[in-house]
Amino acid sequence: MNHAWWKKAVFYEIYVPSFKDGNGDGVGDFSGITSKLDYLKELGIDGLWLTPFYPSPKVDNGYDISDYFGIDPSYGTMEEFESFLIEAHKRGIRVIADLVLNHTSSEHQWFKESRSSRDNPKRDWYIWKDQPNNWESFFSGPAWEFDEATDQYYYHAFAKEQVYLNWANPELRQVMFNVMRFWLEKGVDGFRLDVINFLKVQDSFPNNPYDHDKKEQIHLHDKDQEGITSVIREISEVIHQYPDKFIVGEVGSEEIDILKNYLGTGKLDVAFNFNIGSIGTFDVEQLYSELLATEEAYGLDQNATLFFSSHDMPRFISRFGGDNERAKLFAALMLTAKGVPFIYQGDVIGMQDWLPATLDAMRDVQGKLVYEKSMNDGLPREEAFKKAVEGCRDKSRTPMQWDSSLYAGFSESEPWITIPSNSVTVNVENQMNDPDSMLSFYHSLLKLRKHHRSLQSGEYEILQKQDDMIFFTRSAGQERVLVALNFSSEDKTIDVQTDRYALLLSNKRTSLINGNRLEVMPNETMILLKSEEKINSGEVHVS
Ligand code: NOJ
Repeated sequence: MNHAWWKKAVFYEIYVPSFKDGNGDGVGDFSGITSKLDYLKELGIDGLWLTPFYPSPKVDNGYDISDYFGIDPSYGTMEEFESFLIEAHKRGIRVIADLVLNHTSSEHQWFKESRSSRDNPKRDWYIWKDQPNNWESFFSGPAWEFDEATDQYYYHAFAKEQVYLNWANPELRQVMFNVMRFWLEKGVDGFRLDVINFLKVQDSFPNNPYDHDKKEQIHLHDKDQEGITSVIREISEVIHQYPDKFIVGEVGSEEIDILKNYLGTGKLDVAFNFNIGSIGTFDVEQLYSELLATEEAYGLDQNATLFFSSHDMPRFISRFGGDNERAKLFAALMLTAKGVPFIYQGDVIGMQDWLPATLDAMRDVQGKLVYEKSMNDGLPREEAFKKAVEGCRDKSRTPMQWDSSLYAGFSESEPWITIPSNSVTVNVENQMNDPDSMLSFYHSLLKLRKHHRSLQSGEYEILQKQDDMIFFTRSAGQERVLVALNFSSEDKTIDVQTDRYALLLSNKRTSLINGNRLEVMPNETMILLKSEEKINSGEVHVS
């Protein structure tokens, strides 16, 4: 397992409805993705994470599956999926599928049967109670819905159309294992397991406590429950029966020790670390301390993940002030520090957040539920809308901006969600041949990473912060690389005998000045190679 492919891979998240529309209906699809595989290959991507593409009423854009064995017609046919997979593999690109094991759509046949009567054989596949407890949905509002037909409540940790499965039921578990086998046999290279640490809830359903000022519920009994790791072991066993498969878990937890507990042989390969990934505002101190905490907790045993954006959060470039030069530092960190990187579509061209101006333009169920709750709480309409915009995840879900045409080269017709007006200037076509563009910077970083083993799998020798500059060295075998990231607005220096290093990459200069101090400019990324190795290194120069 030490040489597992995923340890060196760079993943790229494709938000399926918004990547590329191949049939002109305004929704991204498999023929569209296939048409962009050469672009992804050229960029230097090793793996794709596809958000759910199974049939779904799309209340939560596919995270509400109504059939685990098919392809949603708006994304194409099974044949189109299969040919996409073949084409990706031909280019050496692996594909991992997003799997939602915790809940199904309320439109799923299983739930229709389950809700039809209390003694239906599938009744126990879901969680039914005579009385609800106080658990709140992770989206907003109560987590229980009353179902008149059988006079009981069912549990849903997210929207009421996302009905929770009862993993304590052995029959259900077997059915879900077959779902995994089905896709593994189709040839997918692994899974991203949605909110996997919420899979099991506390059997006795005690009420959740609230924080000090009683404002927020603490999700004590509806995640990270005893017994969860043994279920994960069963899942992992099914998946790892197939050679070379990979599992990344979405583990919503702020505790690094809890995260770590989900990892290792027989469990998840990696888990998303939101402590680093979802840092809300630009804060180098916090970033550094999270990197350090992860390194201390994981060390040689586990592999971290590195990402700063996803379809669930505002794009990092917008969170950190909308500055391209600063965003490049985060890109460099993601692709050179220790961890498995997950790039989010659009970040490579510096796409920014989009904010819906009206409730009608809002697409995300979470935003709508926040609005509903705020109105129920008696907030004035404007306030409620403001809260809804804050909570809504449409910000980062707008279509990929491929070119400056009317629908940004994403589609021939009006897309399902608004195209931001800056697509006229911020797009792949414009950046492709501009050596200073964000896209070229990512391209150079990805190329460099491919040439230098220490950037893929090297251990840290140093990991330090000096004011607002983070720098580290990573080594593998004879190779040692130094990375300095100056997040400050002032020049910084490090004690380095510069004549012993070769410049591999900088976004601010083309050569090094000899001396015993290395000067790093504001917003500069510098990547240096210890010179003994430079001869065989396959050096990359960028301007
Ligand atoms: C996490 C997914 O990333 C998010 O988009 C979804 O709404 C929830 N899980 C519920 O499935």
